[in-house]
Amino acid sequence: MSRNPTRNLALELVRVTEAAALAAGRYMGRGDKNAADRAAVEGMRLVLNSIEMDAVVVIGEGEKDEAPMLYNGERLGTGEPPLMDLAVDPVDGTRPLALGLWNAICTVALAPRGTMFNPGPAVYMEKIAVGPAARSVIDLEAPVKDNLQKIARAKGEHIEDLTVVILDRPRHADLIAEVRRCGARIRLIPDGDVAGALMTGLPDSGIDVLLGIGGSPEGVIAACAMRCLGGNIQGRLAPRDEREAGLIREMGYDAKHVLGMDELVSSNDVFFAATGITSGDLLKGVDYFANGATTDSLVMRSLTGTVRRIIATHRLDKLSHISSIAY
Ligand code: FBP
Repeated sequence: MSRNPTRNLALELVRVTEAAALAAGRYMGRGDKNAADRAAVEGMRLVLNSIEMDAVVVIGEGEKDEAPMLYNGERLGTGEPPLMDLAVDPVDGTRPLALGLWNAICTVALAPRGTMFNPGPAVYMEKIAVGPAARSVIDLEAPVKDNLQKIARAKGEHIEDLTVVILDRPRHADLIAEVRRCGARIRLIPDGDVAGALMTGLPDSGIDVLLGIGGSPEGVIAACAMRCLGGNIQGRLAPRDEREAGLIREMGYDAKHVLGMDELVSSNDVFFAATGITSGDLLKGVDYFANGATTDSLVMRSLTGTVRRIIATHRLDKLSHISSIAY
């Protein structure tokens, strides 16, 4: 059944991630994670509140940070329909941003109300993510070798041709050893597994699969992106101790259960935007020049599968007269 084009909220979301990146980019290499995050949060929140929607934050800055803004449950937007769930990660890669390293990005996603998974007290999630070619062959419960064999076969490649992206953490020592035994190549990343997941879904990124344990909120945001890209992601909550395992049980979750992409975000009408703050494999970082700056963003919608790359030039001399964001 054909119908007229409908509003693409991702095109409005990109103004949110651009504003946050422009504000946070000023803190690159200045050694202050909190100031960088605060700048991104303030920029993001101001623009989110200008969007005609009634959004509730499902993935926010989180109780763990006792964040005063963009906290879980906060309502954003003008308050009119559509009713949406909102996921934000104002800076994925606060450490690299504060140190002036690669790959810090700003991301935000929207999905219809009640369709985003709320990880609650679960800080970490085990993940596997792949692009469209291997979307139907992954299984988080299967041995690493089986997954790599199936992914390689689905792509018409050998395991040796695959590149696996893994967060560089001591907890991944066994995983890294196993991937090496299988013969696949590895890209160890110091931070930023949202970008890591996204790259598996982008042609020519050189990344085939993301494996390992990262943040749960990042897992839900990555699921929104993977839906738009036509890839796949599975996650399993990874409680750090008995106390956290108990809290997860109290929420009615089973930490052994593998969450499919449809559980992480159950709607197929998802909107996603990301803007680079510092340059990386996925996006270029903010580049400031006299009176202005350029940003590089990805803008996607799952319903249509459209993926846009938006390179924007911002006139900071003009914006400084009309905006309350400190660019
Ligand atoms: P932050 O910028 O919010 O600190 O997140 C960076 C990040 O690398 C995420 O991309 C990842 O999911 C998570 O941290 C991993 O957590 P940890 O650093 O505790 O292993």
